[in-house]
Amino acid sequence: MRTHAESVHEQFDPQGQAYLSSAVHAQGPELAYAERLVAQTLPATATALDVGCGAGHLSFRLCRLLSRVVALDPSAGMLATVAREAAARGLQSLATHQGSVESLPFADETYDLVATRYSAHHWSRMDAALAQMRRVTRAGGVLLLIDSLAPEEPLIDTHLQAIELLRDRSHVRNRSPSEWQRLLAAAGFEIVEHQRWPTRIDFASWIERMRTTTERVAAIRALQLMAPLEVQQALALEPDGSFVLHTGLFWARRAG
Ligand SMILES: C[S@@+](CC[C@H](N)C(=O)[O-])C[C@H]1O[C@@H](n2cnc3c(N)ncnc32)[C@H](O)[C@@H]1O
Repeated sequence: MRTHAESVHEQFDPQGQAYLSSAVHAQGPELAYAERLVAQTLPATATALDVGCGAGHLSFRLCRLLSRVVALDPSAGMLATVAREAAARGLQSLATHQGSVESLPFADETYDLVATRYSAHHWSRMDAALAQMRRVTRAGGVLLLIDSLAPEEPLIDTHLQAIELLRDRSHVRNRSPSEWQRLLAAAGFEIVEHQRWPTRIDFASWIERMRTTTERVAAIRALQLMAPLEVQQALALEPDGSFVLHTGLFWARRAG
């Protein structure tokens, strides 16, 4: 038996290199879009926190635009990968910090930008997480939240969350756009912009990245094959199990 936090460590500590070379994480239209928003909104003197930095792909982009970026993750393995890669790229404005979103180890109103990409679906206490992110954002500062989205339709949502959990025991849930709108408003953020993009998930590399066991891969394939036609179509399911997820971006001002 493991706690959720132990599952996060188990899943991510050995996987820094796999996430560094993952095409889904290294690329994606949301990265260029986020860079444009940051460049248009924040001065080069601004500072940023990247929560759940993983192998650091968002942090590396933010470093090109801002004076100081702190990459935070609970996983020491991920942080070691980020520090190594930042040194190789000569990114001196990037610092790493071990910690979790539910108890951010920073003073109130420290950052002009608080960002997170493909991490929020692992957070088990979303209210605490968003309250902490708001707390460390300066008055007038911004939140950049990027994550894989849940479909609004319960039938499709249930199937997606089930295969996500079978693949990765540290998965909590993807949120739908309307859930994010409610959560962000309740946490004191005013959404300025929301965008979404389809992201093709290559089945073989998706399960390899999380070292999904043979039994659980078989369960995912069985679920995919028994899924109703509406689900298979909505997820654009392919014969080898590859499918399409949607990536959502929310750009929000700290209200008040
Ligand atoms: C898929 S990786 C992130 C990818 C990365 N942000 C990028 O843009 O390539 C998910 C990361 O979220 C981190 N994570 C999980 N639970 C967390 C929590 N409660 N607080 C902060 N980070 C967390 C994991 O350790 C993992 O490194």
